[in-house]
Amino acid sequence: MSKKILACSLLWAASTSLSAQQSATINLNADQGKTIIPKEIYGQFAEHLGTCIYGGLWVGENSAIPNTNGYRTDVFNALKDLKVPVLRWPGGCFADEYHWMDGIGPKANRPKMVNNNWGGTIEDNSFGTHEFLNLCEMLGCEPYISGNVGSGSVEELAKWVEYMTSEGDSPMARLRRANGRDHAWKVKYLGVGNESWGCGGNMRPEFYSDLYRRYATYCRNYDDNRLFKIASGASDYDYTWTRVLMEQVGSQMNGLSLHYYTVSGWTGSKGAATQFNKDDYYWTIGKCREIEDVIKRHCAIMDSYDPQKQVALMLDEWGTWWDEEPGTIRGHLYQQNTLRDAFVASTTFDIFHKYTDRLKMANIAQIVNVLQSMILTNDKGGMVLTPTYYVFKMYNVHQDATYLPLSINCKEMPVRDNRTVPMLSATASKDQAGKIHISLSNIDADNEQTVTVALGDIKATKAVGEILTAKNLTDYNTFEQPDMVKPAAFTNAKIAKGVLTIKMPAKSIVTVELQ
Ligand code: AHR
Repeated sequence: MSKKILACSLLWAASTSLSAQQSATINLNADQGKTIIPKEIYGQFAEHLGTCIYGGLWVGENSAIPNTNGYRTDVFNALKDLKVPVLRWPGGCFADEYHWMDGIGPKANRPKMVNNNWGGTIEDNSFGTHEFLNLCEMLGCEPYISGNVGSGSVEELAKWVEYMTSEGDSPMARLRRANGRDHAWKVKYLGVGNESWGCGGNMRPEFYSDLYRRYATYCRNYDDNRLFKIASGASDYDYTWTRVLMEQVGSQMNGLSLHYYTVSGWTGSKGAATQFNKDDYYWTIGKCREIEDVIKRHCAIMDSYDPQKQVALMLDEWGTWWDEEPGTIRGHLYQQNTLRDAFVASTTFDIFHKYTDRLKMANIAQIVNVLQSMILTNDKGGMVLTPTYYVFKMYNVHQDATYLPLSINCKEMPVRDNRTVPMLSATASKDQAGKIHISLSNIDADNEQTVTVALGDIKATKAVGEILTAKNLTDYNTFEQPDMVKPAAFTNAKIAKGVLTIKMPAKSIVTVELQ
């Protein structure tokens, strides 16, 4: 054990030995709600990577696995329940090698391709533009198309936009009709490249800025479709990228992206998804919470160029990144998902809600079978909902609700890498029907916490909700035991004399509605 880890463990041992029950207080400022939490903060990302598309979302009409027009029925239904607001596709790194014309027309005529980014898998292009946009329509979510800048051309991207969105008698609209789709789809979000500093072309920000301006010029608004154009943004701590883009592109972009992964580093082992100790768990929470500082610093740069906040920050990739599961295909990024991942999701949302004056979208990586996914599937028709899925479900009451600021007074703990982790994380909002929801995470792995919330003028008499917890932080759902970690009704919240008291078991996540 390193000296630093030992010091953290001793500090923690000293601070927990006093009592097995902690207390925390929350000041809820219900009268200070100003910003709406855009539902797009709860966005998803689907890349041609591993079995995210093929096998996860799509099995094809002839599959023995029950499907609806080729989409896995079980996965589709689970996503419908989740209220997915926006879905980003086809990548990621894949997007900058994707040629959309290979994915239209009769399936038998579509050429195969090599997925160079992700394991060299051969793909048959049976899932293309029509399959993606129809899925979005069926789910009732906004599509977010990530365009190929790295290895494509301006003409190719301009024609894709025309194909998807033109209602007129234009060449691409005619081609779309010949392929069986009469009316244009509505496509709002258009990404102009992805990670252009890396897999998307290894560019310098100055060069990419000019390229963005050129590509964006020819991506037209057809008929009443209005594109929201998103420039490829920085990776976590690269503030120079954001500064140059704000300076050189400015209001020619509607949004600027940002990627932040909870990962221990890009070389060597990232740690196993399911085997970790308490020290690793607290480190993970510390690393995931660091996203707040990263968001703040990118926002401060954006504010200095754009005080009116006309350019949105779009965090279009985030989540945990662990070692691939043993026995799975290298490069497919298939990882399990434990209660620890659930805490990363809840804590991250609590942070996102605070910055929605600038942060208008976030897309977790990824929706099925890749990284911190909502759903895991196998080729025998098995499906598992992950602890992260359940957090998204418990939190979807906050979609498009008014954010209610709150302040928390709780115990803090020093963790590895000179970070400090508060033992309670929380957020609150008021939905369009006037209902107030509070979500809380007791980060403490060992101790129950009694949380009191002074309700002020809120006239509520009871609080009902759900709790997500498990025996161990390392617990996860498998095809054999799909219900190891799942929410249950929560009955330990009481309101008396204008004070809400919530008794939270160790390592638990709760959402309550005030009634
Ligand atoms: O989500 C996996 C990969 O991570 C994406 O393709 C890329 O954009 C990022 O580096």
